[in-house]
Amino acid sequence: MANKPWDGRFSEKTHKDVEKFTSSIAFDKRLYAYDIEGSIAHCTMLAEKDIILKKEAKTIVKGLNAVRKEIEKDQFREDDRLEDIHMHIESRLTEIIGKPAQKLHTARSRNDQVALDVRMYLREECKNTIIYLVGLRKVLVDMAKRYIDVALPGYTHLQRAQPVLWSHHLMAYYEMFNRDTQRFQEGLKRINVMPLGSAALAGTTYPIDRALTARLLNFPEVSANSIDSVSDRDFAIEYLSAASICMMHLSRFSEELILWSSSEFKFIDMPDAFATGSSIMPQKKNPDIPELVRGKTGRVYGSLMTLLTIMKSLPLAYNRDMQEDKEPLFDAVDTLNASLKIYNAMLPNIKPIEENMFKAANEGFLNATDLADYLTSKGMPFRQAHGCAGKAVGYALKEGKELHELSLKELKSISNLVSDDIFIFLTIEQMINRRVSEGGTAKTNVSAAIRKADNTVKKEINMIDKKLKYV
Ligand code: ARG
Repeated sequence: MANKPWDGRFSEKTHKDVEKFTSSIAFDKRLYAYDIEGSIAHCTMLAEKDIILKKEAKTIVKGLNAVRKEIEKDQFREDDRLEDIHMHIESRLTEIIGKPAQKLHTARSRNDQVALDVRMYLREECKNTIIYLVGLRKVLVDMAKRYIDVALPGYTHLQRAQPVLWSHHLMAYYEMFNRDTQRFQEGLKRINVMPLGSAALAGTTYPIDRALTARLLNFPEVSANSIDSVSDRDFAIEYLSAASICMMHLSRFSEELILWSSSEFKFIDMPDAFATGSSIMPQKKNPDIPELVRGKTGRVYGSLMTLLTIMKSLPLAYNRDMQEDKEPLFDAVDTLNASLKIYNAMLPNIKPIEENMFKAANEGFLNATDLADYLTSKGMPFRQAHGCAGKAVGYALKEGKELHELSLKELKSISNLVSDDIFIFLTIEQMINRRVSEGGTAKTNVSAAIRKADNTVKKEINMIDKKLKYV
């Protein structure tokens, strides 16, 4: 082992520290299955085009499968002198099958090889991300259905604003995760491009068939420009950017779950199975899952920044800097998928404390806008109505009452347009159900949005189950 494939022109042995410093095997080992699959396709294509003998190709494929088995069984020796997973596999292949192994790297470079491996890896993981997102959207739709009538205060500036349905609030997250799903699907198209055959950067003199390699590896298209193919990491940056946005959504959701489960809000009960205790304070039940998801958001943003920074000044084409893409990418993928997975499991077990939500929506003059709207409906211009409702709030505050607790006489003293039908307008139910403008919180709207989302998600799940082209 450990004769370097590139040491022909070197007269000095590589310094030990250099070997350790340049090695990436510790982290790129996880690309092994894609590397072997890519090599098998490449070698099949070489044989098909008579660039190597069919007999040699057969031996190589057999050998590669043997190497795969060894790695799967953890019987694989790592050696920094062999730098990366590509050279480890080739070197072990040479040990197993001898001479024919030397033909595998014909018409290929590690530059297009690593681009292929990362694309194959990310294609798989991006599909997993999409599957988790579809699952999460299903969970949200089911919760919105189950708790369709639960009302709570909606907030702006974290101040109680107007009552909304909790289902409407949950469906707001559905919309965010729906956009995330679309972003990953869109990004998948650009991940799913086959770079092999670009060789080092200029293409190759051998009569290769890139379309055949692409077909063998299930890629719908081949990359157009060999220089771009080996120096492009846009597809990874796009994934990281979509991942960052998705983590931002999860983080906002986490923040709300943390607030809602606090004694100050008491809007939800966090399931015991998804909370942890304190080592000193016996009464504590902490929302560690949402807190960790909120914290992990920083890691994913960090990965995006790392890749953008690695790439920002690189001259074309491949530069070794690009080896630094893997750890942040792997970490972000693992972090996002783990966060989505735990949310899928945790959310259905969260229970709203309906009476506390309702009580909060019933306090704090959340019906002031509705009083103004009422006056407007009786002919008063809105700005003037706003002023009147403001006066009513001031008066009620002094009296220590809510608007709906004032007497008809008291309300009439604010404007003589008020009559006894006012009290219906000031109830939570009316406040919610009269907001029928498109996308508003009225139950009829929310039910329709849930039905639509339910259909969409069911179709997507069906396509995933049938392994159709959806992902
Ligand atoms: N380990 C390298 C990487 O991940 C593979 C490509 C190496 N290419 C080279 N010319 N040294 O980027």
